[in-house]
Amino acid sequence: MKVVIIGSGNVATILGRLMIQHNINIVQVMSRNMEHAKILAEELNSNFTDLNGLVDITADLYLLAISDAALTESLLYLNVNGKPILHTAGAVSKDVLKQISPNYGVFYPLQSLRKEMKIIPPIPIMIDASNVATMELIREMASKISDSVQIANDETRQKIHVAAVFANNFTNHLYSLAEVFCNKEGIDFNLLKPLILETANKVTEASPGTVQTGPAIRKDLITIEKNLNLLSEYPEMKSLYIKITDSIMNLYR
Ligand SMILES: NC(=O)c1ccc[n+]([C@@H]2O[C@H](COP(=O)([O-])OP(=O)(O)OC[C@H]3O[C@@H](n4cnc5c(N)ncnc54)[C@H](OP(=O)(O)O)[C@@H]3O)[C@@H](O)[C@H]2O)c1
Repeated sequence: MKVVIIGSGNVATILGRLMIQHNINIVQVMSRNMEHAKILAEELNSNFTDLNGLVDITADLYLLAISDAALTESLLYLNVNGKPILHTAGAVSKDVLKQISPNYGVFYPLQSLRKEMKIIPPIPIMIDASNVATMELIREMASKISDSVQIANDETRQKIHVAAVFANNFTNHLYSLAEVFCNKEGIDFNLLKPLILETANKVTEASPGTVQTGPAIRKDLITIEKNLNLLSEYPEMKSLYIKITDSIMNLYR
């Protein structure tokens, strides 16, 4: 299978690496910034161009791994000769691609991907397509690089994306706030790492609702009050503390 990757960021890089590991031939990397295209192309051993360049029309499939906002701009400059074109976004309809080719779809990697990651974690892939033949082609490629491939239409994928924002982006933001707090208060953030890992590990065995701990589920109002007093100089954290405490109490009411 021959693939053109459009984009050179986190997803383009990690999916590109996985593809060459599984003998999928990347024939071209295209990116808005020529230098970015060149860097990724050198790693993936492919040709490269910027978005004004000629698209390699020999490919079987075109993978658009560009920002969500760019996907909703006009992409009509891309001429893929009616071949399948896919995007990688969780929260963007597949139909943004319908004017480029009748054969289009989605290849959404349900994982937090950064090009700096040294070990590529397992990546469930949610796929969708405009027709059966394109779906089969996407499934074939997805199955080469992942053990977990599932069909998810626009509505389902959007819901999965919301769940992922809660489970991943929000928890990571809370880690960041905890780290800022630790640094300002002279506490070593590393002390919290076993706790963070333990909580993440627990959800692989139990429903998170059954393993919640902390002052909110205990309805320990004295401790909550003490914590809030400590946060008087951190208004953002204090307001989140109150909202999340209320949310936990409401869930276990
Ligand atoms: N990272 C993740 O964990 C993850 C997971 C699942 C899905 N996704 C989805 O995958 C897609 C790519 O995400 P990413 O994390 O790889 O983003 P990223 O690292 O920020 O890379 C964004 C890419 O988009 C290109 N780009 C930005 N604005 C553009 C424009 N106006 N026109 C053309 N190209 C433009 C950039 O090109 P230049 O660098 O050449 O300027 C760059 O190659 C997004 O739809 C995202 O929702 C991301």
